[in-house]
Amino acid sequence: MAKKTNSAGPASINIGISDKDRAAIAAGLSKLLADTYTLYLTTHNFHWNVSGPMFNSLHAMFMAQYTELWNAVDPIAERIRSLGHVAPGSYAQFAKLSSLKDAPATPPKALEMVRILVEGHEGVARTARSLFPLVDKASDEPSADLLTQRLTIHEQTAWMLRSLLEE
Ligand SMILES: [Fe+2]
Repeated sequence: MAKKTNSAGPASINIGISDKDRAAIAAGLSKLLADTYTLYLTTHNFHWNVSGPMFNSLHAMFMAQYTELWNAVDPIAERIRSLGHVAPGSYAQFAKLSSLKDAPATPPKALEMVRILVEGHEGVARTARSLFPLVDKASDEPSADLLTQRLTIHEQTAWMLRSLLEE
């Protein structure tokens, strides 16, 4: 007789990754989600609050960046769900999980905003990179692919922002 799954809890998951590895990868991706969401919010904050002679270019640049980050949180959260775990999605959880500091309450000067965002993108890149050994060991190619895409964006954006800080 076929196993009933609707009345006896959730269906078991058998995709060739052990329960332990799925849990560990989901926990790592939850940190990446928290970092990404925190950097999204800081970038949107800076879009609103930037001032000074660079206003036009930074206001537009921050908009492109927060839009990219906003679109990035969904695939990360849905990968966590595909691995059978719950995606975190509250300010309390994100504050606990994120390696990034919250945006400063008082808006910094324009170039200080840029410096904070460079640090943020570098921080998210470190979080993403730290998950590779685990993901590779479990042959979790979809997570590896997602991490590669995120690393490419964060390292490129950090370079572009860093370039603004040069004399
Ligand atoms: Fe706007």
